[in-house]
Amino acid sequence: MALRLVVLASGTGSLMRALLAARDGSFDVAALITDVPDAGAIAIAEDAGLEVRVVRRDDFADRVEWDEALAGAIGEFHPDLVVSAGFMRILGAAVLADFPDRIINTHPALLPAFPGAHAVRDALAAGVAETGCTVHVVDAGVDTGPVIRQERVPVQPGDDEATLHERIKSVERRLLVDVVRAIAAHGLTVHDRKVTIA
Ligand code: GRF
Repeated sequence: MALRLVVLASGTGSLMRALLAARDGSFDVAALITDVPDAGAIAIAEDAGLEVRVVRRDDFADRVEWDEALAGAIGEFHPDLVVSAGFMRILGAAVLADFPDRIINTHPALLPAFPGAHAVRDALAAGVAETGCTVHVVDAGVDTGPVIRQERVPVQPGDDEATLHERIKSVERRLLVDVVRAIAAHGLTVHDRKVTIA
């Protein structure tokens, strides 16, 4: 039985596109859910025949109502795993309660270094010689959940945010596929913040 995924994305969707290209029967993607009505990810999802749901923050009175609506939109597809691939909002209590230890996120830095929405810019500003990317289980914090896999990525002379981020994304696309395939094959458990895929 293929692992059933729902993807959350707010941006161009290149990581989701890599997941879609890597479908090998061990997992499938049921839907894209986004908070951005004109996200580039929508066209990729539609071209791939995925269901798409837009859950705009401004359509709700407050964050709690938005989070509850997001939980409902995800739940409509009964996912085994929720993959946040460039979703630029913090998931709230309703989503976390509905999918405990079944939400993973990919972040363009070596967590715990450079959490938050500007990880690539922050790494450049810090002048580090290398950064990287992290796939982790999502918890209630901002990029604080237990790490599943990380990989280092060098910063090169002359890098700007775009060139460094693209180099990181090229690693993220491979890392995310590897992690999803491993979870599809072996399952994912988290105990006392320790991740086991086996
Ligand atoms: C990725 O680097 C992800 O880690 C970050 O946003 C980027 C999404 O890229 N949160 P894309 O929209 O999939 O191209």
